[in-house]
Amino acid sequence: MSSFNFAPLLAAGLPPPAAKWTGFAKYNFIGGHNDAAQVPLDALVKAANDVLTREGRTLATYGLSSGPLGYRRLREFLAQKLKRTAGICCDADEILITSGSLQALDLVNGMLLNPGDTVIVEQATYQGALTRLARLSVHAVGIALDGDGMRMDALAAALDELKRRAVRPKYIYTIPTVQNPTGTILSEVRRRELLRLAGDYGVPIFEDDCYADLIWDGRRPPALHAMNENGGKTGVIHIGSFSKSIAPALRVGYIVADWELLARMLALKTDAGSGALEQMVLGEFCPAHFDQHVPRLTHGLRQKLETLMDALNEQFGTAAEFDDPKGGIFLWVKLPDEVDTLKLFQPALAAGVAINPGPEWATDKNYSRSRTRLCFAHPSHEAIRAGIATLAEVCRREFGAPNRIANVETARA
Ligand SMILES: Cc1ncc(COP(=O)(O)O)c(C=O)c1O
Repeated sequence: MSSFNFAPLLAAGLPPPAAKWTGFAKYNFIGGHNDAAQVPLDALVKAANDVLTREGRTLATYGLSSGPLGYRRLREFLAQKLKRTAGICCDADEILITSGSLQALDLVNGMLLNPGDTVIVEQATYQGALTRLARLSVHAVGIALDGDGMRMDALAAALDELKRRAVRPKYIYTIPTVQNPTGTILSEVRRRELLRLAGDYGVPIFEDDCYADLIWDGRRPPALHAMNENGGKTGVIHIGSFSKSIAPALRVGYIVADWELLARMLALKTDAGSGALEQMVLGEFCPAHFDQHVPRLTHGLRQKLETLMDALNEQFGTAAEFDDPKGGIFLWVKLPDEVDTLKLFQPALAAGVAINPGPEWATDKNYSRSRTRLCFAHPSHEAIRAGIATLAEVCRREFGAPNRIANVETARA
């Protein structure tokens, strides 16, 4: 290792340095990891073999022989899948493949945002979206949610208030179909209302639909993008991902938008193309297997959710409140008011339980202070049960709640 001191040379305004990875916690409820047992390995191995045997020599050129938007067979699969499941009418050239949908967030933000801008988000939302906005010095206005997703009365009031102050938000960011972290689905009536409000106030919609395949009963409302087609009054940029439906380590996401917008974002996409092998494997795997794979995956996820909800009921009783989510991989849990999940995080981790504290997933720190997001996709059923029992012990030790564990009254240690 060289002892050269880079510190005085570092660019201004860098984010804080990343922490070194020390492995996963024993009971890992954080992040958006998927169920290892459900990765469709055999079919992926065969797809890799088949596509490389047939088209492997196209790896000799940047962008394969598909150009900068990404592997054509994958974009063609997406165009027909999005039509069938979400009602979106687009062709393959209105889809840009990205390195995960995180890159899609960066490209949309890069195209639209300047420091000092305002955007509208859901009051509880994806941490990766919030940290990006904070780094860009963009103000995020949070809109309250209920069991049907973003509340349109609250959105109308916020748009009105911003207009009164002559602020035109750059976009309304929403995760309408299995919201992260609340697991709600924005009803079709509200989708119509959202499009109307967005049109009236001249604000485009940024629709993040990465959990839309993971709905327990498989039924979803049309995408906002679809409902805005044919003369819709606003602009909708739609993004999605294979991280939740297949595997996050693949790092394959996508953007659906008009070519004029994709052309702007392509000019910002400086990586000369996202990883080609992953795209080729998915392009080969998906047309034959995606539709069979997803119901199997969601069935397994639902069983893990049942285990988590049972464990919470058993260990926390009424001290843990939650709504049964409509799909996805997360449960958004309200603990008693005296619990500060930012302060629960470290002692829980020391006991082997990793949780996401609510304030990192919300614009309103008071609302989220005693909330936590638990990802149930990755831990085994046994780890879910043991992890929640440990979490209850730590929570009682630190905050005196729950005061009954597994129906046994306990005094604060
Ligand atoms: C709402 C939302 N959007 C985007 C992402 C980014 O996912 P990826 O980059 O793996 O596609 C996530 C990941 O958890 C997410 O929850």
